[in-house]
Amino acid sequence: MAILIDGKAVAAAIKDELKSFVEEKAKEGKHACLAVIQVGNDPASSVYVGNKKKACAYIGIGSESFELPGETTENELMELIDRLNADDKITGILVQLPLPRHIDPDKVIRRISPAKDVDGFHPMNVGALSIGEDCFVSCTPQGIMELLKRYDIETEGKECVVIGRSNIVGKPMAMLLLRGNGTVTVCHSKTRDLKEICKRADILVAAVGRPKMIDHEYVKPGAVVIDVGIHRMENSKLCGDVDFDDVMPLCSAITPVPGGVGPMTIAMLMKNCCKNL
Ligand code: GUN
Repeated sequence: MAILIDGKAVAAAIKDELKSFVEEKAKEGKHACLAVIQVGNDPASSVYVGNKKKACAYIGIGSESFELPGETTENELMELIDRLNADDKITGILVQLPLPRHIDPDKVIRRISPAKDVDGFHPMNVGALSIGEDCFVSCTPQGIMELLKRYDIETEGKECVVIGRSNIVGKPMAMLLLRGNGTVTVCHSKTRDLKEICKRADILVAAVGRPKMIDHEYVKPGAVVIDVGIHRMENSKLCGDVDFDDVMPLCSAITPVPGGVGPMTIAMLMKNCCKNL
């Protein structure tokens, strides 16, 4: 029977640890404050932003919200980022993605001071991660590493297969698994023999973006399966990139959707907000 990796419980424990840490730092007069910028009113983004602000409030991290209209120009957004970069009270800056089409996200990410880039998206942080330096690390892959650690799942010497090569999940995930001395393969839409490669994995990370694509044909018996996907089905229930019911009997441990990787993303954002306190 597979172990269910309870991301919700681990995230709650981490948030409580951070709450105590923030209380201690407050006694020394040290405070964290996250600036959260949303451009336009994409409903999914509004939910994510709301959850991030709620987590800040729970832990005792300040948050300042900037809800800008969809017509905001790239220049106006850049000017706001410049102001926040220069403001000593603001210790973290997060620009919720996606941005409206007339704004170039790469330019925006580069404008955020790497020292306040709590998402870990700035090329300086991405580069530092790839050469093993201390830096802000993208929250979802960092959360997956934390889950593996707290469940005593060793990465050293393991065959790790990551499906998906996004800048936010796939690539930093590969870097972290490599840092954990795993043997890492990154698969993507042009990969041939995807099933065969996945079937070699001791640790399989699915970040494909296709509901229930990963079934038993992709999974080696005894593998650890990490599901990054989140999709709303027609019956309004949530599912991941992994066909949970089909894969679960086969694997040694698996993250459910919801309640697996998702809650860890916000917990790691909060950890990043506290990093330099
Ligand atoms: N949009 C979807 N995921 C993320 C994230 O982790 N950070 C930001 N800033 N935007 C997102």
